[in-house]
Amino acid sequence: RGDRPLMSFRNAPLAVIHDVDKETLLTPEIRAEIDKHVAKYPPEWKQSAVMPALTIVQDHNGGWLTQELMDQLAAYLDMPEVAVYEVATFYAMYDLEPVGRHKICVCNSVSCMLGGAEALLEHIEKRHGVAPGGTSKDGKFTVKEFECLGACRHAPAVMVDKAYHECVTPDAIDKIISKLD
Ligand code: FES
Repeated sequence: RGDRPLMSFRNAPLAVIHDVDKETLLTPEIRAEIDKHVAKYPPEWKQSAVMPALTIVQDHNGGWLTQELMDQLAAYLDMPEVAVYEVATFYAMYDLEPVGRHKICVCNSVSCMLGGAEALLEHIEKRHGVAPGGTSKDGKFTVKEFECLGACRHAPAVMVDKAYHECVTPDAIDKIISKLD
C-alpha cells in the first residue's frame, strides 16, 4: 500500500507524427492563432487545442471545414485524422458543407421549443424561404437548428454568428436578418 502512488494521471493521448513540414500546413496567420491555444497545454497535450483550432480554421474558410483542412490540422497537432473528424462531426458549431455568410442557430431544445422556437423556424421558412439546414438563395445566411444554447430562461434563444439573442420573436428575427450584410 505504501508504494502505491497517491494520485494517478491519465496518459497523454495518442500522438501521430505526420511526415510533413508543419510550415507548409494551413497559413502562418492560422498557425499563429492556433499556437496561442496550444501554449495553454503541456506539449504532450497539444491535441487539447483541437476545438478552438477547428473554430479558427473554419472562420478563415468562410464558416466551414473541408477534409483537407481537417487533415492539415491533424498533422499540425500531431493527431490521427479520425480524431479531428470525430470532434468536427460531433459538435453542431462545425460545418462540413459550404454555408451562408452568416449562421442563424435557433435553439430547439425543450425550453425554447416550448417558448416558440418551432414557430420561429416556421416563420423563417415561410418569410425568408429557408428551412433548417438550408441557406438563403443570396448566400446571406444559413439556418441551423441547435441544441440548448444555455439561455433557457430567455427562450427562444438564437445565436447569430457569435452573438446571442434572447426572447426572439418573429418580428425580432426579421429585424436581425435585415441587418445582416
Ligand atoms: Fe434553448 Fe436552453 S433550451 S437555450
